[in-house]
Amino acid sequence: EKGNYRHFMLKEIYEQPVVVAQTLQSYVRPLEGKVALPDIEFDLSEIRRVTIVACGTSYYAGMVAKYWFEQFARVPVDLDVASEFRYRQPVMEEGGLALFISQSGETADTLAALRYAREAGQIIGAVVNVPTSSMAREADLLLPTHAGPEIGVASTKAFTCQLAVLAALATNLARAKGELTAEEEQEIVEHLTEAPAALNAALSFDGEIEKMAPLIAPARDVLYLGRGPDFPMALEGALKLKEISYIHAEGYAAGEMKHGPIALIDDLVPVIVLAPSGPLFEKTVSNMQEVQARGGKIVLISDRKGLDAASHGVMATIEVPAVHPLIAPMVYAVPVQLLAYHVAVTKGTDVDQPRNLAKSVTVE
Ligand code: M6R
Repeated sequence: EKGNYRHFMLKEIYEQPVVVAQTLQSYVRPLEGKVALPDIEFDLSEIRRVTIVACGTSYYAGMVAKYWFEQFARVPVDLDVASEFRYRQPVMEEGGLALFISQSGETADTLAALRYAREAGQIIGAVVNVPTSSMAREADLLLPTHAGPEIGVASTKAFTCQLAVLAALATNLARAKGELTAEEEQEIVEHLTEAPAALNAALSFDGEIEKMAPLIAPARDVLYLGRGPDFPMALEGALKLKEISYIHAEGYAAGEMKHGPIALIDDLVPVIVLAPSGPLFEKTVSNMQEVQARGGKIVLISDRKGLDAASHGVMATIEVPAVHPLIAPMVYAVPVQLLAYHVAVTKGTDVDQPRNLAKSVTVE
C-alpha cells in the first residue's frame, strides 16, 4: 500500500532510513564495536580475488563495492555486468569469491553468471532482497538485504540496503586481511550506526529538490559527474533519471569530461556534480569549473563545507550531511533519487511503471 505517498517510489525512498537500519542490524554489533557476517564456512582471509557481477542499479552498488574492497581491504576486484560476464569466458582462479548482487534474486543474466562462476570453482556470495529467490538458494554465502518488497520499477531502497551490506562486507574483509585495527573497526561501526540518521538528514532537503525539478524537466540531455565511489553514484543518478523521466542522461567519471563529453556542454545541458568534501573534492570542482566556463548549468550536490567552498556561479545546490566514505554513497543516493522522482512527476510520466521496463528481468 502506498499510504499517504503519491507513488510507491516516493514511499520507498522515504523508507530508506528504516530499512537500512533493519539491514544493518544483521551485520553490525554496536555494543561489541564489530561488524559480523552470517556464519561463513570459509576463511575470508584466504580470498585472493573478488569478482562482482550484477545488472543495472545492482551493478552500480557492486561498482561502489569495488572501490571499497580495493581501498579498505586491498583485495583485487573484477567487476562486470552479467550479460557480458556470462558470455566472455572470464578466467577465474579457483577459490575466489564471486559476488552476485540482485534485488529480485531472479535476474536471468545474473543467475546464469552465478552458475558459470560455480562451474569455475568460485565460492558464491549473493546479496539479495528476496530470501526465497533462486540466487539466495544457490549461494554459499547469503547476505540478505532487508529492504522489504520493492514495488517501484526504479530501484531505490534495495540499492541503499545493498550498499549497507557491502560496506559491512568490506569491513569484514579488511579485518580478515589485517588491514583494520579494532579501533578503526569500532569507528566504522559508529559511522554505520549513524547511517539511518544521515539518510533522514538527506531526505529533509526534499522540498528544495522538488522546487528545482522544473529547471531540469525541460532538458533533453543531463550529465552527472563524480569521482571515486561517486562515479558509480553519477551513473546511478543518470539511470534513475532516464528510467522514469525519459530524459537522456549520462554519468561520467569527472576526469573523463575533457576526453570528449565536454563537447556536449552548452547552457541547455544541466550538469549534476556529486562532490563530497574530502581528498577528491578539489579535483571534481576543477572539472566542474571547466564545465561552467563553457556555459554549463551546474547543480552541485555536496555537504555544507563543500557548498560553501564551491557554490559560486552554480544554478542550484543540494545539501547532504558530511559522512564517512563508507556511508557517503548511501547518502548521495537520496538526492539523485529525489531529483529523478520530482523531474518525472513534473513531466507527468508513469513513475512506478515506466514504459518498456519490467521490475524483474527474467529473460535475457
Ligand atoms: O533484481 P535485480 O537487482 O537483479 O535487477 C537488476 C536491474 O534490472 C535493476 O536494478 C534495474 O536496473 C532497475 N530498474 C534500476 O532502477
